[in-house]
Amino acid sequence: ALHGVVALDGPSGTGKTTVARTLAARLGAGYLDTGAMYRLVTLAVLRAGVDPADATAVAELARRVEIGVGTSPELPRALLAGEDVGEEIRTEPVNRAVSAVSAVPEVRALLVASQRSIIAQVLEGTGGIVVEGRDIGTTVAPDAPLKVFLTASEEVRAARRSAQDTAAGRESSPDEARESVVRRDRLDSTRAASPLRAADDAVVFDTSELKIDQVIVALSELASQRG
Ligand code: C5P
Repeated sequence: ALHGVVALDGPSGTGKTTVARTLAARLGAGYLDTGAMYRLVTLAVLRAGVDPADATAVAELARRVEIGVGTSPELPRALLAGEDVGEEIRTEPVNRAVSAVSAVPEVRALLVASQRSIIAQVLEGTGGIVVEGRDIGTTVAPDAPLKVFLTASEEVRAARRSAQDTAAGRESSPDEARESVVRRDRLDSTRAASPLRAADDAVVFDTSELKIDQVIVALSELASQRG
């Protein structure tokens, strides 16, 4: 079993979610999808008719919204005021607005505090947790014994996103998926507040050529050595 935190960061379309959930299930650990938390706040912003670019209004709303995420790798749940919105938070309007919302420092401060408290709770219970996001190794859990950063070429990431959308019954063309993925990663990497970047001590895997299964096998080994 895993002890401690595995921090799993990287841009979209690198296989991060599949790797994180599979690894957590194999290791009998908990799982935290921090992206889902930013998506939940974003959905609340859109539903309230707040302009995602209005940082003051976004921060004010973020203080009031009630979001919840499950920590089971088999069934990760995303709740907004008790309503299951697991599908709605993956739709294109949320994809378009989430980078603006997650760039607001107050939003990050609120969610990072909440992520740390969820992590502490899970560590007390099962003893291990795989946490996926953009700033886990750099900000949320800088002391994690294992930090992983996944990358992949633009082509591969766009193709994975498009395949995911199609599998989930959402309309998607490779060109649109590429534009959406590239735009979001550019915004996430260039924002001032804890931008997407690999921690200095992260193990970097390029998943363009590697099969996701190979990444999972390699990480299971690393986790059992370091966890
Ligand atoms: O991982 P996912 O693609 O669901 O994340 C959605 C968005 O949430 C990212 O594009 C990024 O803007 C934001 N995010 C973040 N920090 C995290 C996780 C996600 O800023 N730790």
